[in-house]
Amino acid sequence: MPESNLAPYSEVLVDLQSLHAFVVAIWQAAGSEAREAQLVADHLVAANLAGHDSHGVGMIPRYMHACREGELKLNGHAELVRDAGAVLTLDGGHSFGQVVAYETIERGIARTKELGICALGLRNAHHIGRIGHWAEQCAQAGLVSFHFVNVAGDPLVAPFGGIDRRFGTNPFCAAFPRPGRPPLVLDFATSAIAAGKVRVAFNKGVETPAGALIDYDGTPTRDPGALFSECQHGALLAFGGAVAGHKGSGLAAMCEIFAGALTGGFTSHAETLVTTHAIVNGMFSVIVNPHAFDAPARDQQADAFVDWLKASRLEAGVDEILLPGEREDATRRVRGASGIPVDKESWAQILDAARAAGMSDAAIRPFLPR
Ligand SMILES: NC(=O)c1ccc[n+]([C@@H]2O[C@H](COP(=O)([O-])OP(=O)(O)OC[C@H]3O[C@@H](n4cnc5c(N)ncnc54)[C@H](O)[C@@H]3O)[C@@H](O)[C@H]2O)c1
Repeated sequence: MPESNLAPYSEVLVDLQSLHAFVVAIWQAAGSEAREAQLVADHLVAANLAGHDSHGVGMIPRYMHACREGELKLNGHAELVRDAGAVLTLDGGHSFGQVVAYETIERGIARTKELGICALGLRNAHHIGRIGHWAEQCAQAGLVSFHFVNVAGDPLVAPFGGIDRRFGTNPFCAAFPRPGRPPLVLDFATSAIAAGKVRVAFNKGVETPAGALIDYDGTPTRDPGALFSECQHGALLAFGGAVAGHKGSGLAAMCEIFAGALTGGFTSHAETLVTTHAIVNGMFSVIVNPHAFDAPARDQQADAFVDWLKASRLEAGVDEILLPGEREDATRRVRGASGIPVDKESWAQILDAARAAGMSDAAIRPFLPR
Protein backbone atom coordinates (compact mmCIF):
# COMPACT_ATOMS: atom_id res chain seq x y z
CA MET A 1 0.00 0.00 0.00
CA PRO A 2 1.51 3.39 -0.90
CA GLU A 3 2.21 5.66 2.06
CA SER A 4 -0.45 8.19 0.99
CA ASN A 5 -3.17 5.55 1.35
CA LEU A 6 -2.41 4.82 4.98
CA ALA A 7 -4.83 7.43 6.38
CA PRO A 8 -7.75 7.85 3.98
CA TYR A 9 -10.48 7.97 6.67
CA SER A 10 -12.44 10.95 8.12
CA GLU A 11 -12.68 9.02 11.36
CA VAL A 12 -11.28 5.59 12.03
CA LEU A 13 -12.90 3.11 14.36
CA VAL A 14 -10.27 0.90 15.93
CA ASP A 15 -10.99 -2.11 18.08
CA LEU A 16 -9.49 -2.04 21.56
CA GLN A 17 -7.07 -4.94 21.21
CA SER A 18 -5.61 -3.68 17.90
CA LEU A 19 -5.22 -0.16 19.24
CA HIS A 20 -3.52 -1.44 22.39
CA ALA A 21 -1.20 -3.69 20.37
CA PHE A 22 -0.36 -0.78 18.03
CA VAL A 23 0.56 1.50 20.95
CA VAL A 24 2.76 -1.26 22.45
CA ALA A 25 4.45 -1.75 19.05
CA ILE A 26 5.06 2.00 18.61
CA TRP A 27 6.78 2.40 21.97
CA GLN A 28 8.77 -0.79 21.67
CA ALA A 29 9.98 0.45 18.27
CA ALA A 30 10.94 3.75 19.96
CA GLY A 31 13.00 1.84 22.55
CA SER A 32 10.65 1.18 25.50
CA GLU A 33 10.99 -2.07 27.40
CA ALA A 34 7.94 -4.34 27.24
CA ARG A 35 6.50 -3.32 30.64
CA GLU A 36 6.77 0.39 29.84
CA ALA A 37 5.11 -0.02 26.43
CA GLN A 38 2.38 -2.06 28.12
CA LEU A 39 1.71 0.54 30.88
CA VAL A 40 1.63 3.39 28.34
CA ALA A 41 -0.79 1.46 26.12
CA ASP A 42 -2.95 0.47 29.12
CA HIS A 43 -3.27 4.11 30.13
CA LEU A 44 -3.82 5.74 26.74
CA VAL A 45 -6.34 3.19 25.49
CA ALA A 46 -8.19 3.26 28.84
CA ALA A 47 -8.49 7.06 28.52
CA ASN A 48 -10.05 6.68 25.04
CA LEU A 49 -12.30 3.90 26.35
CA ALA A 50 -13.52 6.22 29.13
CA GLY A 51 -14.29 8.89 26.50
CA HIS A 52 -11.34 11.18 27.28
CA ASP A 53 -9.81 11.31 23.80
CA SER A 54 -7.86 14.37 24.93
CA HIS A 55 -5.69 12.02 27.04
CA GLY A 56 -5.74 8.93 24.86
CA VAL A 57 -3.70 7.76 21.89
CA GLY A 58 -3.84 11.28 20.41
CA MET A 59 -1.04 12.15 22.87
CA ILE A 60 1.42 9.80 21.11
CA PRO A 61 2.67 12.37 18.55
CA ARG A 62 3.53 14.89 21.27
CA TYR A 63 5.18 12.21 23.42
CA MET A 64 7.21 11.12 20.38
CA HIS A 65 8.41 14.70 19.80
CA ALA A 66 9.36 15.01 23.48
CA CYS A 67 11.15 11.66 23.29
CA ARG A 68 13.16 12.71 20.23
CA GLU A 69 14.06 15.99 21.94
CA GLY A 70 15.38 13.98 24.92
CA GLU A 71 12.77 15.60 27.17
CA LEU A 72 10.86 12.37 27.76
CA LYS A 73 13.23 9.65 29.02
CA LEU A 74 12.42 6.06 28.18
CA ASN A 75 12.69 3.16 30.63
CA GLY A 76 13.00 5.27 33.78
CA HIS A 77 11.34 4.63 37.14
CA ALA A 78 9.96 6.64 40.05
CA GLU A 79 12.83 7.26 42.43
CA LEU A 80 12.00 7.30 46.14
CA VAL A 81 13.71 10.48 47.34
CA ARG A 82 12.41 10.57 50.90
CA ASP A 83 10.54 8.05 53.05
CA ALA A 84 8.97 9.73 56.07
CA GLY A 85 6.56 6.92 56.95
CA ALA A 86 3.13 8.13 55.88
CA VAL A 87 4.68 10.77 53.60
CA LEU A 88 6.67 9.72 50.54
CA THR A 89 8.50 11.97 48.05
CA LEU A 90 9.22 10.54 44.61
CA ASP A 91 10.96 11.94 41.56
CA GLY A 92 9.76 10.99 38.10
CA GLY A 93 13.04 12.02 36.40
CA HIS A 94 11.11 13.14 33.27
CA SER A 95 10.32 9.49 32.58
CA PHE A 96 7.01 8.23 31.24
CA GLY A 97 4.25 9.46 33.57
CA GLN A 98 2.30 6.31 32.82
CA VAL A 99 5.11 4.35 34.50
CA VAL A 100 6.23 6.64 37.32
CA ALA A 101 2.69 7.52 38.45
CA TYR A 102 1.78 3.81 38.42
CA GLU A 103 4.83 3.01 40.56
CA THR A 104 4.17 5.95 42.90
CA ILE A 105 0.56 4.93 43.47
CA GLU A 106 1.64 1.30 43.91
CA ARG A 107 3.95 2.39 46.76
CA GLY A 108 1.23 4.62 48.21
CA ILE A 109 -1.26 1.75 48.22
CA ALA A 110 1.17 -0.52 50.05
CA ARG A 111 1.92 2.18 52.64
CA THR A 112 -1.78 2.98 53.12
CA LYS A 113 -2.53 -0.68 53.77
CA GLU A 114 0.14 -0.56 56.47
CA LEU A 115 -0.62 2.81 58.09
CA GLY A 116 -4.19 3.72 57.05
CA ILE A 117 -3.07 6.80 55.14
CA CYS A 118 -0.28 7.90 52.83
CA ALA A 119 0.53 11.29 51.29
CA LEU A 120 2.58 11.16 48.10
CA GLY A 121 4.53 13.90 46.39
CA LEU A 122 5.50 12.99 42.83
CA ARG A 123 7.58 15.58 40.99
CA ASN A 124 9.21 15.91 37.56
CA ALA A 125 7.05 13.27 35.92
CA HIS A 126 6.46 13.46 32.21
CA HIS A 127 2.70 13.74 31.47
CA ILE A 128 0.74 11.45 33.82
CA GLY A 129 -2.33 11.62 31.56
CA ARG A 130 -5.86 11.04 32.83
CA ILE A 131 -5.69 11.45 36.61
CA GLY A 132 -8.81 9.30 37.11
CA HIS A 133 -6.64 6.34 36.07
CA TRP A 134 -4.56 6.76 39.26
CA ALA A 135 -7.62 7.22 41.46
CA GLU A 136 -9.06 4.02 39.91
CA GLN A 137 -5.81 2.19 40.75
CA CYS A 138 -6.41 3.19 44.40
CA ALA A 139 -10.14 2.35 44.23
CA GLN A 140 -9.37 -1.11 42.81
CA ALA A 141 -7.37 -1.67 46.02
CA GLY A 142 -10.44 -0.55 48.03
CA LEU A 143 -8.91 2.84 48.91
CA VAL A 144 -10.20 6.42 48.86
CA SER A 145 -7.91 9.00 47.25
CA PHE A 146 -7.65 12.58 46.12
CA HIS A 147 -5.08 14.15 43.81
CA PHE A 148 -3.92 17.68 43.03
CA VAL A 149 -1.84 18.02 39.85
CA ASN A 150 0.06 20.87 38.20
CA VAL A 151 1.25 21.18 34.62
CA ALA A 152 4.55 22.75 35.56
CA GLY A 153 5.89 25.53 33.38
CA ASP A 154 3.10 25.26 30.79
CA PRO A 155 0.65 28.04 31.64
CA LEU A 156 -2.40 28.07 29.33
CA VAL A 157 -5.05 29.36 31.73
CA ALA A 158 -5.76 32.94 32.79
CA PRO A 159 -6.46 33.53 36.51
CA PHE A 160 -9.89 34.89 37.48
CA GLY A 161 -9.84 38.61 36.68
CA GLY A 162 -6.71 38.34 34.45
CA ILE A 163 -6.16 37.75 30.73
CA ASP A 164 -2.58 36.39 30.70
CA ARG A 165 -1.71 32.69 30.93
CA ARG A 166 -0.54 32.01 34.47
CA PHE A 167 -1.16 28.32 35.31
CA GLY A 168 -1.77 25.02 33.60
CA THR A 169 -5.03 23.13 33.24
CA ASN A 170 -4.14 21.68 36.68
CA PRO A 171 -6.51 18.75 37.23
CA PHE A 172 -8.16 17.72 40.50
CA CYS A 173 -9.44 14.23 41.14
CA ALA A 174 -11.14 12.40 44.04
CA ALA A 175 -12.46 8.85 44.22
CA PHE A 176 -14.54 6.72 46.60
CA PRO A 177 -14.66 2.92 46.14
CA ARG A 178 -18.01 1.12 46.56
CA PRO A 179 -18.35 -2.60 47.19
CA GLY A 180 -19.80 -4.39 44.14
CA ARG A 181 -20.20 -1.15 42.16
CA PRO A 182 -17.93 1.12 40.15
CA PRO A 183 -16.16 3.75 42.29
CA LEU A 184 -17.25 7.37 42.30
CA VAL A 185 -14.51 9.18 40.37
CA LEU A 186 -14.55 12.95 40.06
CA ASP A 187 -11.76 13.97 37.68
CA PHE A 188 -11.51 17.25 35.82
CA ALA A 189 -9.19 19.95 34.52
CA THR A 190 -9.63 23.19 36.47
CA SER A 191 -9.78 25.02 33.14
CA ALA A 192 -13.23 25.37 31.55
CA ILE A 193 -12.22 22.50 29.23
CA ALA A 194 -9.04 20.39 29.09
CA ALA A 195 -6.32 21.68 26.70
CA GLY A 196 -6.42 18.30 24.95
CA LYS A 197 -10.09 18.95 24.11
CA VAL A 198 -9.05 22.22 22.45
CA ARG A 199 -6.42 20.21 20.52
CA VAL A 200 -9.05 17.67 19.40
CA ALA A 201 -11.35 20.56 18.27
CA PHE A 202 -8.42 22.18 16.40
CA ASN A 203 -7.63 18.88 14.63
CA LYS A 204 -11.31 18.35 13.77
CA GLY A 205 -11.69 21.96 12.59
CA VAL A 206 -14.62 22.64 14.94
CA GLU A 207 -15.29 25.41 17.46
CA THR A 208 -14.83 25.01 21.21
CA PRO A 209 -17.80 25.61 23.56
CA ALA A 210 -18.51 29.23 24.47
CA GLY A 211 -16.90 30.45 27.69
CA ALA A 212 -13.72 28.37 27.42
CA LEU A 213 -11.26 30.61 25.54
CA ILE A 214 -10.18 34.24 25.22
CA ASP A 215 -7.85 35.79 22.64
CA TYR A 216 -4.73 37.83 23.48
CA ASP A 217 -6.82 40.93 24.25
CA GLY A 218 -9.17 39.01 26.54
CA THR A 219 -12.03 38.88 24.03
CA PRO A 220 -14.07 35.64 24.28
CA THR A 221 -13.52 33.35 21.29
CA ARG A 222 -14.57 29.86 20.18
CA ASP A 223 -11.59 29.44 17.84
CA PRO A 224 -9.33 26.60 19.14
CA GLY A 225 -6.54 28.31 17.19
CA ALA A 226 -6.37 30.79 20.09
CA LEU A 227 -4.40 28.04 21.84
CA PHE A 228 -3.02 25.85 19.04
CA SER A 229 -2.32 28.01 15.97
CA GLU A 230 1.20 29.29 15.18
CA CYS A 231 0.64 32.51 17.15
CA GLN A 232 -0.70 30.92 20.32
CA HIS A 233 -1.50 34.09 22.22
CA GLY A 234 -4.89 33.40 23.72
CA ALA A 235 -5.74 31.62 26.97
CA LEU A 236 -8.18 29.16 28.47
CA LEU A 237 -10.45 30.36 31.27
CA ALA A 238 -10.71 28.61 34.63
CA PHE A 239 -13.95 26.67 35.19
CA GLY A 240 -16.85 28.50 36.76
CA GLY A 241 -17.21 31.34 34.24
CA ALA A 242 -18.08 34.92 35.08
CA VAL A 243 -20.15 33.96 38.15
CA ALA A 244 -17.90 31.35 39.78
CA GLY A 245 -14.56 31.52 37.95
CA HIS A 246 -12.87 32.47 41.23
CA LYS A 247 -13.54 28.90 42.43
CA GLY A 248 -11.92 27.23 39.41
CA SER A 249 -9.07 29.71 39.49
CA GLY A 250 -8.58 29.19 43.25
CA LEU A 251 -8.56 25.39 42.96
CA ALA A 252 -6.06 25.62 40.08
CA ALA A 253 -3.80 27.82 42.23
CA MET A 254 -3.90 25.27 45.09
CA CYS A 255 -3.07 22.48 42.61
CA GLU A 256 -0.06 24.53 41.48
CA ILE A 257 1.16 25.07 45.05
CA PHE A 258 0.53 21.52 46.34
CA ALA A 259 1.82 19.68 43.25
CA GLY A 260 4.57 22.13 42.28
CA ALA A 261 5.90 23.52 45.57
CA LEU A 262 4.95 21.05 48.34
CA THR A 263 6.30 18.03 46.41
CA GLY A 264 9.69 19.68 45.84
CA GLY A 265 8.94 20.04 42.14
CA PHE A 266 8.41 23.38 40.43
CA THR A 267 5.62 25.88 39.84
CA SER A 268 4.96 27.94 36.71
CA HIS A 269 6.65 31.33 36.55
CA ALA A 270 8.89 33.29 34.20
CA GLU A 271 11.99 31.23 35.10
CA THR A 272 10.42 27.78 34.61
CA LEU A 273 8.55 28.01 31.31
CA VAL A 274 8.83 24.74 29.38
CA THR A 275 9.53 25.54 25.71
CA THR A 276 9.84 21.97 24.39
CA HIS A 277 7.17 19.34 23.61
CA ALA A 278 7.57 17.93 27.13
CA ILE A 279 4.65 18.09 29.57
CA VAL A 280 5.86 18.04 33.16
CA ASN A 281 3.41 17.08 35.89
CA GLY A 282 3.69 17.20 39.66
CA MET A 283 1.10 15.35 41.75
CA PHE A 284 0.19 15.56 45.42
CA SER A 285 -1.95 12.55 46.32
CA VAL A 286 -3.52 11.42 49.57
CA ILE A 287 -4.67 7.80 49.84
CA VAL A 288 -6.85 6.70 52.74
CA ASN A 289 -8.06 3.29 53.88
CA PRO A 290 -11.83 3.76 54.47
CA HIS A 291 -11.79 0.84 56.92
CA ALA A 292 -9.50 2.82 59.21
CA PHE A 293 -12.48 5.04 60.16
CA ASP A 294 -15.11 4.03 62.69
CA ALA A 295 -17.90 4.11 60.08
CA PRO A 296 -19.87 0.83 60.12
CA ALA A 297 -22.70 2.43 58.07
CA ARG A 298 -20.38 4.04 55.52
CA ASP A 299 -21.68 2.21 52.46
CA GLN A 300 -25.36 2.44 53.49
CA GLN A 301 -24.97 6.18 54.07
CA ALA A 302 -23.27 6.61 50.69
CA ASP A 303 -25.95 4.55 48.91
CA ALA A 304 -28.79 6.41 50.64
CA PHE A 305 -27.30 9.72 49.50
CA VAL A 306 -26.88 8.46 45.93
CA ASP A 307 -30.53 7.31 45.81
CA TRP A 308 -31.67 10.67 47.22
CA LEU A 309 -29.56 12.57 44.68
CA LYS A 310 -30.84 10.53 41.76
CA ALA A 311 -34.46 10.96 42.86
CA SER A 312 -34.35 14.73 42.24
CA ARG A 313 -36.82 16.05 39.65
CA LEU A 314 -35.03 16.55 36.33
CA GLU A 315 -34.38 19.67 34.29
CA ALA A 316 -36.03 19.67 30.86
CA GLY A 317 -33.96 17.64 28.38
CA VAL A 318 -32.04 15.69 31.05
CA ASP A 319 -32.61 11.91 31.25
CA GLU A 320 -30.71 11.11 34.40
CA ILE A 321 -28.60 12.69 37.12
CA LEU A 322 -25.11 11.31 36.78
CA LEU A 323 -22.69 10.57 39.59
CA PRO A 324 -18.97 11.31 39.24
CA GLY A 325 -17.61 8.54 37.00
CA GLU A 326 -20.93 7.42 35.51
CA ARG A 327 -20.40 9.16 32.18
CA GLU A 328 -17.08 7.34 31.80
CA ASP A 329 -18.67 3.99 32.79
CA ALA A 330 -21.37 4.47 30.13
CA THR A 331 -18.78 5.40 27.48
CA ARG A 332 -16.72 2.31 28.38
CA ARG A 333 -19.76 0.12 27.73
CA VAL A 334 -20.41 1.70 24.32
CA ARG A 335 -16.80 1.87 23.12
CA GLY A 336 -15.98 -1.54 24.58
CA ALA A 337 -18.57 -2.95 22.17
CA SER A 338 -18.13 -0.69 19.13
CA GLY A 339 -14.45 0.35 19.18
CA ILE A 340 -12.53 3.59 19.67
CA PRO A 341 -13.17 6.44 17.19
CA VAL A 342 -10.06 8.46 16.28
CA ASP A 343 -10.38 11.57 14.11
CA LYS A 344 -8.53 11.60 10.78
CA GLU A 345 -5.96 14.25 11.68
CA SER A 346 -5.04 12.56 14.98
CA TRP A 347 -4.81 9.18 13.25
CA ALA A 348 -2.48 10.61 10.57
CA GLN A 349 -0.31 12.13 13.31
CA ILE A 350 -0.19 8.78 15.13
CA LEU A 351 0.93 7.02 11.94
CA ASP A 352 3.66 9.66 11.50
CA ALA A 353 4.74 9.07 15.11
CA ALA A 354 4.90 5.32 14.44
CA ARG A 355 7.18 5.98 11.46
CA ALA A 356 9.27 8.37 13.57
CA ALA A 357 9.66 5.54 16.10
CA GLY A 358 11.16 3.44 13.31
CA MET A 359 8.16 1.36 12.18
CA SER A 360 7.99 0.66 8.45
CA ASP A 361 4.69 0.90 6.56
CA ALA A 362 4.74 -2.90 6.38
CA ALA A 363 5.05 -3.08 10.19
CA ILE A 364 2.22 -0.55 10.61
CA ARG A 365 -0.18 -2.19 8.14
CA PRO A 366 -1.43 -5.04 10.43
CA PHE A 367 -2.69 -2.42 12.90
CA LEU A 368 -4.73 -0.42 10.38
CA PRO A 369 -8.50 -0.71 10.73
CA ARG A 370 -10.10 -2.90 8.05
N1 LIG B 1 -2.15 15.28 33.20
C1 LIG B 1 -2.51 16.52 32.96
O1 LIG B 1 -1.65 17.40 32.87
C2 LIG B 1 -3.95 16.86 32.80
C3 LIG B 1 -4.30 18.21 32.72
C4 LIG B 1 -5.66 18.52 32.58
C5 LIG B 1 -6.62 17.53 32.50
N2 LIG B 1 -6.23 16.22 32.57
C6 LIG B 1 -7.23 15.16 32.44
O2 LIG B 1 -8.15 15.51 31.42
C7 LIG B 1 -9.33 14.75 31.58
C8 LIG B 1 -10.50 15.51 31.09
O3 LIG B 1 -10.78 16.62 31.94
P1 LIG B 1 -12.07 17.50 31.67
O4 LIG B 1 -11.99 18.71 32.51
O5 LIG B 1 -12.24 17.66 30.21
O6 LIG B 1 -13.23 16.54 32.20
P2 LIG B 1 -14.82 16.71 32.03
O7 LIG B 1 -15.20 18.12 31.84
O8 LIG B 1 -15.26 15.70 31.03
O9 LIG B 1 -15.35 16.30 33.48
C9 LIG B 1 -15.15 15.00 33.89
C10 LIG B 1 -15.74 14.78 35.26
O10 LIG B 1 -17.10 15.24 35.31
C11 LIG B 1 -17.99 14.13 35.47
N3 LIG B 1 -19.17 14.39 34.60
C12 LIG B 1 -19.17 14.53 33.27
N4 LIG B 1 -20.40 14.79 32.81
C13 LIG B 1 -21.21 14.81 33.89
C14 LIG B 1 -22.61 15.03 34.10
N5 LIG B 1 -23.43 15.27 33.07
N6 LIG B 1 -23.09 14.98 35.35
C15 LIG B 1 -22.26 14.73 36.38
N7 LIG B 1 -20.94 14.51 36.28
C16 LIG B 1 -20.42 14.56 35.04
C17 LIG B 1 -17.22 12.93 35.04
O11 LIG B 1 -17.69 11.73 35.61
C18 LIG B 1 -15.81 13.30 35.52
O12 LIG B 1 -15.65 13.08 36.90
C19 LIG B 1 -9.35 14.35 33.04
O13 LIG B 1 -9.21 12.93 33.07
C20 LIG B 1 -8.12 15.01 33.65
O14 LIG B 1 -7.47 14.22 34.63
C21 LIG B 1 -4.93 15.88 32.73
